[in-house]
Amino acid sequence: MPAAPTDELAAQARALLADYAADEQTEAHAAATLKQLASLLPALDAAYHQHDAPVVDDATYDALRRLNTRLELEFPRHARADSPSATVGAPANGPFRRQRHMVPMLSLDNVFSREEFEGFVSRIARFLGLGDEQARALSFVAEPKIDGLSISLTYVHGRFMRGTTRGDGTEGEDVTANLRTLRDIPDQLPAPCPDTIEIRGEIFLSKQAFLELNAAQEAAGEKPFANPRNAAAGSLRQLDPAITAKRPLSLFAYAAGYCDGPLAATHHGYLEQLHAWGFRVNPLSTQVPDAQAAEAFMERLTRERSGLDYDIDGIVYKLDDRALQERLGFAGRAPRWAIAWKFPAEQAITRLEKIDIQVGRTGALTPVAFLEPVNVGGVIVTRASLHNEDEIARKDIREGDLVHVQRAGDVIPQITGVVLPRDHETQPFLFPHTCPVCGAHAERPEGEVVWRCSGGLTCPAQVVERLIHFVSRDAFDIDGLGDRTIVEFHELGWLRTPADIFRLGAHEEEIAARDGWGKVSARNLVNAIEARRTIELSRLIYALGIRRIGTSNARLLARHYGSLANWRTQMEKAAIVGSDERLELGSITGIGTTIADELVAFFAEAHNRATLDDLTGELTHVLDEEAPEAGSLSGKTIVFTGTLTTMTRPEARAVAERLGARVSDSVSKKTDLVVLGEKAGSKARKATELGIDTMNEASWRVLAGMPPSPQAEG
Ligand code: IVH
Repeated sequence: MPAAPTDELAAQARALLADYAADEQTEAHAAATLKQLASLLPALDAAYHQHDAPVVDDATYDALRRLNTRLELEFPRHARADSPSATVGAPANGPFRRQRHMVPMLSLDNVFSREEFEGFVSRIARFLGLGDEQARALSFVAEPKIDGLSISLTYVHGRFMRGTTRGDGTEGEDVTANLRTLRDIPDQLPAPCPDTIEIRGEIFLSKQAFLELNAAQEAAGEKPFANPRNAAAGSLRQLDPAITAKRPLSLFAYAAGYCDGPLAATHHGYLEQLHAWGFRVNPLSTQVPDAQAAEAFMERLTRERSGLDYDIDGIVYKLDDRALQERLGFAGRAPRWAIAWKFPAEQAITRLEKIDIQVGRTGALTPVAFLEPVNVGGVIVTRASLHNEDEIARKDIREGDLVHVQRAGDVIPQITGVVLPRDHETQPFLFPHTCPVCGAHAERPEGEVVWRCSGGLTCPAQVVERLIHFVSRDAFDIDGLGDRTIVEFHELGWLRTPADIFRLGAHEEEIAARDGWGKVSARNLVNAIEARRTIELSRLIYALGIRRIGTSNARLLARHYGSLANWRTQMEKAAIVGSDERLELGSITGIGTTIADELVAFFAEAHNRATLDDLTGELTHVLDEEAPEAGSLSGKTIVFTGTLTTMTRPEARAVAERLGARVSDSVSKKTDLVVLGEKAGSKARKATELGIDTMNEASWRVLAGMPPSPQAEG
């Protein structure tokens, strides 16, 4: 078919966007728009990539892609088999396209002993309000915990549409083209299957395949991979699917994400369903009725582990009843209904060559151990964390000592102790009281374990580390601004604060003239920076590098406060101890008082406020955060008070949050609803005084769409 003339394509693009801006999408309209996008986007791609003749500007192209993704998420029934999001890969030389998961991909909390496992079961029972006998009746499915990479596979009308890496749990990278080369991923599910379903599992490389791949790497003069997991990750992120096709990656399917049809009532039923659809399900998966059986399974696999043809690092236990899983939901990043019981850590002995002190973006002086390279459970370890001064003193770790090194899963290797008696004389380590980078004196406030450089923004290490954090992947994610470039531009005096990044355009010609640069790379850098003048609120919050605010807390804050303006005002008001705003901040699930204190401390500093203002002055648009699930209670603030009789407090809170509400511990004029349990006291009175709506527990169940009291069932 001859391609449409370019001006026709451009006109079609403009019309689609104008139309979308003007209209609320109906089902039929969405289907029609998706159909148009399915032919328009590939045509634009071809013009850009194959003919080097873009038809529309980048912003229009991005807007069309976003429109496509958004419509697919809002109207999954109308997602098309020929959707451009499934069939079009990333530009050949670019990174993979980011893709939002319809349901977040969670990680797992860990336990290391039978006692801890029993603690996990008790927490479930407490949350659900179960008695001893009911708790004993809870049944679990045990599955080997594969040491690979998790992946989410989207099937629409049974057809494999898209595969995405876990990423930060909310969005990952689209690696569909590479996944299509895997034999373990069926292209078509046999009917019956739901219209849209996300199936999750683990991608891995067998030990045998790993050894063969490394032999080939070495023969070709390439660097070998440290372990099968790294080799699997490297193979999956190949820009050329033909290379992935040559690496025998496998998949075990084990979980569900989004699904718009009925699924099995139990997890083991779901695994059977996956098997029937043609997926590989780990044959060792089994049902365990209690902690004793869980431990027995753990012991069995500890013995059999080395004989398996793939690496496992523990056992995952999942509550079998899916309705209970649903009620339990998740806390932070991990489900309440599943746990990983990890194998004990792996150990080795090596020489500690040197203790280096590194300065982080908050000025913390962190001791790092440089080790003689050693193989710990299949991974070559050269560095280990030493935590802080007290830890070094407690273990009396000295430069030149032989030390025990331990690795547990993905955690940074630890030094657990010194081999005694010493094989030669060494001197106790003296922790420096000045910053090794800027020479300013270091302080260790009373009650804290960390020494901090007092140089603040005059300390190059802190400034540079902050900037590196600012442009990192989960923050502003600016391509082309690597660590070394930041150091270089900082030394040239071009970069001091985050806002300076957006003023680098003024130096474009000087950059182009520098060693290792050129006109094209300088232009690409400036373009990458320009593209980030529009940024999501959660990325902005994370980028600020406030202590204890990682990606998940940044997202919690962004979702809770919605917009930059609101967050900013609320944080300043929260400075007043006892204010409604401070209480609200501390009662966001996952935030708590310590983190609230850090936020308040950040905003108390005039130079932090000035840095933020300077930065936002450079940005065009900070995108408001949408509530996680725009539920029936989205935007409402709810307080529970008194004793609830049909559900526990944590469950009530989780249900409210799932429906989009914020749950607070104190009643204020911002409260929308107070749910009164038995013997509700002062909060009920305050609600009446302030004229806030109240309701009893039974009405709350109705409002929240929960079945009538579960205890009525006996
Ligand atoms: S279930 C909500 N099952 O372990 C369910 N995860 O430490 C979340 N993993 O990110 C995952 N084998 O990459 C599950 N049988 C298994 C698993 C498994 C390996 C990985 C997965 C996850 C990580 C969490």
